[in-house]
Formats: sequence, C-alpha cells, structure tokens
Amino acid sequence: MTNDRAVGIHDLSFRTGSLVLTHAELSKHTGASVAKYHKGLGQQAMSLPAADEDIVTMAADAAAPIIERHGTDRICTLLFATETSIDQSKAAGVYVHSLLNLPSNIRVVELKQACYGATAALQFAAALVQREPEQQVLVLASDIACYDLDSPGEATQGAAAVAMLVSVDPSLVEINTPSGLYTHDVMDFWRPNYRATALVNGKKSMAAYLAAVEGAWHDYQAREGLSIEKIRTVCYHQPFTRMAFKAHRHLLDTAGVEADATATDHAIAPTTHYNEIIGNSYTASLYLALASLLDAEDELDAETLGFFSYGSGSVAEFFTGRVVPGYRAQLRTTAHLEAISRRRDIDYNAYRRVHTQPLPDDGSQHRLPHQTQGSFRLSGMEDHQRIYEAVH
Ligand code: HMG
Repeated sequence: MTNDRAVGIHDLSFRTGSLVLTHAELSKHTGASVAKYHKGLGQQAMSLPAADEDIVTMAADAAAPIIERHGTDRICTLLFATETSIDQSKAAGVYVHSLLNLPSNIRVVELKQACYGATAALQFAAALVQREPEQQVLVLASDIACYDLDSPGEATQGAAAVAMLVSVDPSLVEINTPSGLYTHDVMDFWRPNYRATALVNGKKSMAAYLAAVEGAWHDYQAREGLSIEKIRTVCYHQPFTRMAFKAHRHLLDTAGVEADATATDHAIAPTTHYNEIIGNSYTASLYLALASLLDAEDELDAETLGFFSYGSGSVAEFFTGRVVPGYRAQLRTTAHLEAISRRRDIDYNAYRRVHTQPLPDDGSQHRLPHQTQGSFRLSGMEDHQRIYEAVH
C-alpha cells in the first residue's frame, strides 16, 4: 500500500579513517604552497584508512549507532553505495550485515556510479519506503579516495562512511520531489578494474561538474521544482570544499540570480566543516556536507535545503529536502567530533607507506596489525577471503 506521508532521512551517522595527514605536512614535501591547499582547494587535512580498515569497517562503524538507537525490526533493505568496491561479485553490505548481526530477512545490494551512488541509493530507498511505509532502509555510503602519489589529485584524497536510515515521518530531513536529473558520457575521472588509484583529468572534471550543475538545475526547473529563492542553502558533493563555492556561484548564475560573494560564502561555509578536514569521501561526501550543516546550524527548522549530487562519468541529481522541526534532538554531533578527533596524525613518510591498501593481490594468507580506532577491523586475508572481526 503506498502512502502520502513524508519520507526521508530519519537518522544519520558518519565515521572516518583512523589516520590523518595535514595539508601543512603535505605541502612541505610537494613543493606546493600551503595557501594553495588551504585557500585554493579549501582543504586542511585528509583522513586515511589504517591498515585494518576498509569500506566495510568504516560503514559498519557508521551504522552501528543507528542500529543501537532504532533496532532492526523495520529494516528490510540495506543499500551500500561505493566506488571502492572490494569484490566484483559479493556486495560489501553483506559483510556489514554480518558484523552488525542484522536479521536474515533483509535484502542487501551494492550500487555504483562514482560519487553519485549514494544519492541513487537514497532515492531508491525513499521509493521502497513510499511503497511499504512500515519498512525502513539502511543506506550506507563508504569510500576511500586514492590518487597516484605526486599527482594533482593527491591533495584531494580522503576516507569516510555515512550511514542513513530512511523511513516515513523522518526526524531529520524530508526528501521532496521532483528531482532534476542529468547524465552525460564524459571521461573526466574513472578507475579501471586493474587500478587501485583513479585516473582523472582535473580541469575537465571541474568543467563536467559545473555543466552537470546547469543540466540538473534546468531539468529540475522543467519539472516545476522550487525557485532558487525558496532554497536556504545547497549541500554539494565536495571533491574539495572550494568546489562547492564555485558550484553555488554557477548555480546562482544559471538560475539568473546575481551572486553576492559574501552571501555565497555565508551560505556554503557551514556545509564544508567536515569535508575540509576529512577530504573527498566520494559517495559519502555530499552527506558529510549535510551532517556538517545540521551539526553547525541551529536554526534550520522547516527550512528547505538543496542537494547537488555529482558522480564523474557522469550522472548528477538536484533535489530538495525540508528540515524537520526538532531535528537537533536527533543529531550525533558529539560522536562525529569524537570520530574526527581520535584520528592519529601521521607524517609524510608514514603516509607514503600506507598510501595503497596493504592486502596482497594474490589472495594469499596475510595478517594485519590492529591499528583502527573503530569497532570493527579487517584482520587479514585467508584463501582469497577478507576476514573481519568486531573489536572488543
Ligand atoms: P591543480 O593543478 O593542482 O591546482 O589541480 P590549480 O593550479 O588548479 O590550483 C587549484 C586552486 O588553487 C586554483 O584556484 C588556484 O588559483 C589556487 P581556482 O583558480 O580554480 O579558483 N591557488 C592558490 N590559492 C591561494 N594561494 C595560493 C594558490 N596557488 C594556487 N598560493 C585539481 C586542482 C582540483 C584539478 C586537482 O586537485 C585534481 O585533479 N583533483 C581531483 C579531481 C577533482 O577533484 N575534480 C573535481 C570535480 S569531479 C568530482 O567532483 C568527482 C569526483 O569526486 C570523483 C567521483 O565522482 O567519483 C572527483
């Protein structure tokens, strides 16, 4: 039976990799000025996974507090969005299902379209809940952004996972229709199966992102979406945080509004606090922007927010959501700040050593040291199988 009740994000929690490299430290070795990183890219630090962390451990860590608060009785579906997939066949969400002891009567599936995947998951989740209002859907977005050493992309790496519970009568954000959609086949950023790091044409990717802002906004307007004046601010996918400011100026321009630089900065800055110290987390990045905004601002009751999701390749979506009055009571600000502050600072040499994932690519037996600050770890590999465990 379908319903007319509001559907949206009922709870949101994130976790990040346990290691952190500051851009001040990076700049000492790359020859770039620290101002380029801090001001030009808007990045202060990047999260990196510890040896025994991956998309599964980060996602399980992000989701565990949601399960603790809401239980599992109503969860019928787990959607795992990632572009750091660990297997060509088995969904990473099945490992999370096991680590969190979820019941067997749940469907689990993995979704991929670069950084856009989590938005597809959120919209599919909303449609499922619309169809069966008694069910809830757990949406996980978990990624490790990894570029070649000494490449321009290196300064935009990062790692994080977001977990969202989607339900009727949500406590945080109601998701509105319509959405503005945009797909365009472009080779701006991609990662062939044989590579651990992404290939990217940086300038082309920024142009493709801005073209997608325009395309998705025009489609949103064609579907009789809200006018720009009705939208308090926009959460953008943030490959690096300056991109959100550039995108917002471009959106205002496209919407025919004269962009006042101070007002733009004021609108976008609250969405960037987490991403500027975590870095790009691909699928999770847009929802870290939402977490940043909700955790930072206390006067968002009943406000309308815009969301712009971009995944290279490319697919994009613009949609809006209404912040549910009383949302502050549900926030996890303290836990988010704790997850960030417990990261271990590493220097440039240590960073070079941990840059790519430590498991052997021949599937042979391997044990990993206990380094994570989180509640779940990848303990190693045996017979081509990843072995996970809860940390007690
Ligand atoms: P670059 O060549 O290292 O940097 O590439 P740059 O020379 O273009 O400088 C960057 C900015 O810093 C510029 O600002 C400079 O002026 C400024 P802009 O002119 O663009 O406004 N700058 C300074 N500012 C203050 N003081 C200084 C100073 N020096 C320079 N001293 C690039 C930068 C982002 C291209 C590179 O890091 C890269 O390739 N990153 C990866 C790709 C990327 O993030 N693309 C973004 C759009 S695509 C996307 O969002 C999708 C993605 O998330 C993947 C997915 O969907 O899966 C990537």
